[in-house]
Amino acid sequence: MSNPFTLQNKTILITGASSGIGRATAILCAEMGATLFITGRKESKLNETFTNLSGSGHQKLVLDFENEDAITRLVAAIDQLDGIVHSAGIVDNVPFQFIKQKALDKIFNLNLNVPLMITRDLIKKRKLHSKSSIVFLSSLVGVGKTYYGATSYSASKGAISSVIKVMALEMATKKIRVNSVCPGMVLTEMVDNLEAISSNQLKKDEKENYPLGYGTPEQVANAIVFLLSDASSWITGTNLVIDGGASIH
Ligand SMILES: NC(=O)c1ccc[n+]([C@@H]2O[C@H](COP(=O)([O-])OP(=O)(O)OC[C@H]3O[C@@H](n4cnc5c(N)ncnc54)[C@H](OP(=O)(O)O)[C@@H]3O)[C@@H](O)[C@H]2O)c1
Repeated sequence: MSNPFTLQNKTILITGASSGIGRATAILCAEMGATLFITGRKESKLNETFTNLSGSGHQKLVLDFENEDAITRLVAAIDQLDGIVHSAGIVDNVPFQFIKQKALDKIFNLNLNVPLMITRDLIKKRKLHSKSSIVFLSSLVGVGKTYYGATSYSASKGAISSVIKVMALEMATKKIRVNSVCPGMVLTEMVDNLEAISSNQLKKDEKENYPLGYGTPEQVANAIVFLLSDASSWITGTNLVIDGGASIH
């Protein structure tokens, strides 16, 4: 019996695979049979993910997307793909009136420009097979739910959630699907590094706003694998909210 949920015979690029959601996605994609090309900024963390991948034939590349030649190097190193997961990203937590242009540029570059330009160049170089699936990491803040200090982060994710619809339209002739996942709070390094939010505030937020509690990277990875697989072959241009009920609360 054929299994539409499998990732057998698919080659998938995952950025940000050295940590959190990207790492969990890489490990699950490999378990589901995919061959992976993974990237991360910190070599030791990327190696840790790499050694935990099932199967064989995977490739890895250490890249800092703040370096000008990173996208060119990545696209040159890739042969052919059936899927992309853009998980590399950063967060910023600054009240609107204290936003600095440099920080705004940085978050837009890493969260919006880099995944768009990687995708553009892979398509231009014809490195994405017909019927490929592209998954962007947006966020609950990209589709309306927000919190204090999230101006630049939600602007970058809102742009992603908007852009995937245009890309889905334009790529449909090639049968390439483009979607995003929009997770609520998932405790990863990204959240650990948010000094402005204390662990007591997080516990209070979880209790008051998340009927099913905060999520795990693995729970987000499950949804990403679904979007990469042929089981979601009629889904494109969708922002899939994964938030333990936070947005209906
Ligand atoms: N955690 C959440 O609550 C949450 C909710 C909604 C959406 N998201 C989104 O999910 C994605 C993954 O986040 P996460 O929670 O898994 O965070 P994470 O654990 O901090 O992972 C972020 C990843 O991005 C990579 N990265 C950061 N800056 C980079 C740069 N300049 N060049 C190359 N790679 C870079 C990191 O590489 P190194 O580790 O090697 O430095 C890491 O692999 C992000 O796009 C985030 O916005 C997260």
